Amino acid sequence: MKLRDDFLWGGATAANQYEGAYLEDGKGLTINDVELGAEHGKKRLIHQTVQANNYYPSHEAVDFYHRYEEDIALFAEMGFKSLRISISWARIFPNGDDLEPNERGLAFYDRVFDELLSYGIEPIVTLHHFELPLNLVEKYGAWRNRKLVDLAVRYAQTVMERYKDKVKYWITFNEINALFISSQPWHMAGIIYQEDENRMNTMFQAAHHQLVASAKTVIEGKKINPSFKFGCMLLYPCTYAATCHPNDQIKAREKMLATYYFGDVHIRGKYTNNCLAYTESLNGTIDFEPGDAALLAQGTVDYLSFSYYFSAIEGISEEIEMAEGNLSSGGKNPFLETTEWGWQIDPVGLRNSLNSLYDRYQIPLFIVENGMGALDTIEKDGTINDDYRIDYLAQHIKALKDAVEQDHVDLLGYTVWGPIDIISAGTGEMRKRYGFIYVDKDDDGHGSLNRSKKKSFEWFKKVIATNGESV
Ligand code: BG6
Repeated sequence: MKLRDDFLWGGATAANQYEGAYLEDGKGLTINDVELGAEHGKKRLIHQTVQANNYYPSHEAVDFYHRYEEDIALFAEMGFKSLRISISWARIFPNGDDLEPNERGLAFYDRVFDELLSYGIEPIVTLHHFELPLNLVEKYGAWRNRKLVDLAVRYAQTVMERYKDKVKYWITFNEINALFISSQPWHMAGIIYQEDENRMNTMFQAAHHQLVASAKTVIEGKKINPSFKFGCMLLYPCTYAATCHPNDQIKAREKMLATYYFGDVHIRGKYTNNCLAYTESLNGTIDFEPGDAALLAQGTVDYLSFSYYFSAIEGISEEIEMAEGNLSSGGKNPFLETTEWGWQIDPVGLRNSLNSLYDRYQIPLFIVENGMGALDTIEKDGTINDDYRIDYLAQHIKALKDAVEQDHVDLLGYTVWGPIDIISAGTGEMRKRYGFIYVDKDDDGHGSLNRSKKKSFEWFKKVIATNGESV
């Protein structure tokens, strides 16, 4: 079997890391707009409001809002078949609970989709990519509150109706399982746990609200356009047992429960035995409303999209050294090298992940994030020779081809994270660059924002032109 002829090669981005223009054309503040930048190994600080004399990376990001034509022309030059972007809820409903949508916000995404479609680039649209109108945190306690379900569905209906002839592929929540992985799920759910709150109950209830909102979005979306394709999106923390000790295998399986929890509900349409075991193991409870089970059963997704960056190990030994990662982390694997940010590079893990997910769910898969954050150096002649990035991506593309060609996994596409340098979600840094296109901006927000091509630009162009055969 070969990669499909319509394989969706492209790139993936998120509004708060890419757009900037944080108050333009009526946009409201989001949870990202009060978050400072940090650096490798340090946590990003979160303010309650925007404070003077602070640098908030999302405010300008890399200004896609004003430069989308230039950027999309560059993506088209590389031959992109798809671009994953997210819609900022606060551009459409500035406070999240406004009665009427903001026409200027809607018009912006019309312009972006029209531009993409003029080059034959398929938009892949995430409705919630680690972003939320700030007002919903202050007024309702964010995803703790059931009220968010209806507000999120109204937002989804508004954009699905508006873009029904422009967008076919939708993703409801980015890395939804990160809500269970993060100790403070600010990005995932607008939540900073309070000292007096039962964390586990809050976590499971917020997840339930998002899962119900996702199911309702799918149900309402299919009414708007039956040919819409909906995906769930998981952070896939590929995990190996540290040794052949049987209990290491149990540990590795337990690590995956927080991820399969969401895959199971999204795809099997119910809380499976794994979900129940996981909830019980953490003494969590979930309040159901009448009709929730039926909604989850009806609102299942058409494809499973996921991010893959690294793998880790799990085991019973207390000697296992910890490795770094984005939200997920795990033990160090002596057979693997790491990136400058300590993420373990494991292309074979991508093939393993594709097989595990396809074996389990048997629906089309879509790799919507993969890539390598690295420091880039500009040579005296202005070139950027990012061979390390080319090497990382080439190995991962070979691995996905093995999964399709030898293992018969049904794969829709591959979108590289940050095809143009954008703000890092984890640290707010610019120096952690993923792009084929360099953006002149530093961690303090200085720079011309000019775009220039790295060596990987021509390399990826050839990969796409040969449908992956050139790697
Ligand atoms: C994923 C997120 O977790 O990883 C992205 O969906 C994020 O938003 C990406 O940018 C890479 O992480 P980081 O911290 O290097 O930006």
